[in-house]
Amino acid sequence: MIEEQLMQSINSQFDLIRQSATIEMADRILALKASGKNIIGLQVGDPDFATPPAVLDVAFKAMRSGLTHYGPSRGYADLRTAAASKLTRAEGIPYDPASEILITHGGIHAYYLAMQSILNPGDDVLIPDPSWSTHSNMAIMLRGNVIRIPAPAENGFIPFFDSWEKALTPKTRVIVLNYPSNPTGAYPTREYLQKLQAFAAKHNLWVVSDEVYGSLYYEEKPTSAAGIAGAKERTLLVNSLSKSYAMTGWRVGYLAAPPRVIENALKAGQNSITCVAPFIQKAAAFALTDPAIQQVTENMRAAYARRRELVLQISHELESEKVKVIPPQGAFYFFLDLRALKTSSIEICERILDEAGVGLVPGSAFGEQGEGFIRMTIAASDQDVEAGFRKIVEWAEKK
Ligand SMILES: Cc1ncc(COP(=O)(O)O)c(C=O)c1O
Repeated sequence: MIEEQLMQSINSQFDLIRQSATIEMADRILALKASGKNIIGLQVGDPDFATPPAVLDVAFKAMRSGLTHYGPSRGYADLRTAAASKLTRAEGIPYDPASEILITHGGIHAYYLAMQSILNPGDDVLIPDPSWSTHSNMAIMLRGNVIRIPAPAENGFIPFFDSWEKALTPKTRVIVLNYPSNPTGAYPTREYLQKLQAFAAKHNLWVVSDEVYGSLYYEEKPTSAAGIAGAKERTLLVNSLSKSYAMTGWRVGYLAAPPRVIENALKAGQNSITCVAPFIQKAAAFALTDPAIQQVTENMRAAYARRRELVLQISHELESEKVKVIPPQGAFYFFLDLRALKTSSIEICERILDEAGVGLVPGSAFGEQGEGFIRMTIAASDQDVEAGFRKIVEWAEKK
């Protein structure tokens, strides 16, 4: 009885959050594999490359030297400097490592701390649809009011500008961006970002920009949202080593933001995780600065570019009416358009898994605009990407 009453008082915000479809698919795939079925896994957003061995060596050395205790919550100065220099080098934006950078437990934690630092309950948060589900889930957990801004395929997965204007209310506080995007790989032009930042300035909005895929692009280099003149003071940059350095399991990233925001985020970090493990911080500082490692990441980017080309070539060869391929500009996903099948993306993914043995993520996991699409990663071997994509098209053509 008491338990029932307790349960009634449990935080009901979580009822608004659906279990991640990516995780559900992963569980299903594991079960199928355990039963001996051969599955091509094109569902996870995790590089198929090993972390560069030299990075491991730095971590081992740091551990052996005794860096296995608490470390600085803000992050070691050398790592903050490395992160600031990387942003200056890659994006041309100057950051003060002492006051404008915080080391976090991956990009997801940088996003969490960013949102926690600026959001008040009931604030409207504008988030494009489709987008990575954590962007809206986190805002909901923090009692924000999420408003999805359609980013239709017909407009290259970028919202029509007037959609932002139409969504504006007196409660609007935050715009969340993620370019190159997970799941679409799209990113807008510099001119579009300039206009959006001018809109944010006019209406006094924060811009939280998740740029974890910022260095994975195949066309003209994307512009950072903080790199627009006058935008740095209202922009919170989320970044991490996970995707670009094949370091997803290390859980290390950074938040670059105005000092007042960093002070809030530091308090939130101190009171939740204390610090990122010191030996991991040392390995991250090395990864961000060592010239040979930058070359390794360039090679990974070249491999993704080759696989992207492979899919485009096969798609050209097969000329499928059922599977439309929109070339991603960045990140390591294809957001395949199977709307011609007039079937829900969940059903499509379940059936492709059961009947063709390929693991994918349903587009609807990223928002209403993703319905009819499926996300296929190219962070897998060339052979798996080729075989998996051919199987998807074969399966769809039989429908
Ligand atoms: C857009 C986006 N941001 C952040 C993350 C999380 O990255 P990290 O491993 O650095 O927490 C992901 C992971 O899939 C992502 O797709």
